[in-house]
Amino acid sequence: MIELSLDNSVRSLLKRGIAQLRDADIPSFTLAAELLLLHVLGRNRTWLYAHPEEIIADADAQRFFELIARRATGEPTQYLTGKQEFWGLEFEVTPDILIPRPETEHVIEVALDRLALRELRAGRPQKSAGSGLQIADIGTGSGCIAIALAKELTAADFVATDISPAALAVAKRNATRHAVADRIHFIECNLLAFPVGAMPNSAPSVFNESPVTSHQSRLFHLIASNPPYIGRREAPSLPREVRDHEPPSALFGGEEGYELYADLIAQSAAHLKPGGILVLELGHNSLPAVQPLLDAANWTDVAVTNDLAGIPRVLAAERL
Ligand SMILES: C[S@@+](CC[C@H](N)C(=O)[O-])C[C@H]1O[C@@H](n2cnc3c(N)ncnc32)[C@H](O)[C@@H]1O
Repeated sequence: MIELSLDNSVRSLLKRGIAQLRDADIPSFTLAAELLLLHVLGRNRTWLYAHPEEIIADADAQRFFELIARRATGEPTQYLTGKQEFWGLEFEVTPDILIPRPETEHVIEVALDRLALRELRAGRPQKSAGSGLQIADIGTGSGCIAIALAKELTAADFVATDISPAALAVAKRNATRHAVADRIHFIECNLLAFPVGAMPNSAPSVFNESPVTSHQSRLFHLIASNPPYIGRREAPSLPREVRDHEPPSALFGGEEGYELYADLIAQSAAHLKPGGILVLELGHNSLPAVQPLLDAANWTDVAVTNDLAGIPRVLAAERL
């Protein structure tokens, strides 16, 4: 039982919550305490600051301090509140999926820029809704990449894969929440190794039946992926919020971290149409190992985009 003081005002609760998180060395402790109180009360920040004297029910105060105690032991705030914003959209998050990160928004930006350029080159200067486009998101997790792109490209169709059935269940709920579930086909598989019969009806039948080799059987106009890219040897230096709480299958790409990219790029080459676009998120030190995988026999127009911290974060290329 968590002890409650007589003063259950918003101001007092927040002050005590902040102090507990600060004492536990929690990063951004003020923001975390605020988010947890807002979550418990079902209020927004404007309300919080307009009602510092409001008295909170004992049950809510108790629930708040339970969440503070869990945050103090390292559980990420987003797993406690069950949500995270990405590309201006609110996503359900659970411990089955990676919490969407702001740097992944660069994947969306690069994908949209490349598609817009493709339209311009084709002499279509208007913003496109993506009609006729087939887009794949490999390792979809929360579904954030496929769903953000589906909100922007309101006529495009998507395939989103993940090796984790639990992650796919969350992604499907997020797609429903954002009213794009009818355009995203979720498939449980290893990278792009689609099980026979798993592709949507719109896919050419050859795709489901034989190894993908010919131009006709290459389905996608764009493949985007934020694969697991942390090295297992880096695990001891990760924040405990990440190391102890986010799914290992979403974090680690192998001992070094970049191991999945070779298969991902080779399979993408087999599944992208000529002129199709590949957009990959990179780990902080992945670029030297990954860029050489985009060989000139298969790829052109290779470009790197840095994130706001100046780290090479997105690698994009066009399939010949
Ligand atoms: C870094 S998370 C990215 C999640 C989400 N796309 C995002 O950007 O927040 C990587 C995702 O890839 C999935 N994954 C790991 N290995 C995979 C594989 N071999 N094939 C398909 N998905 C895989 C994980 O389950 C996880 O959901």
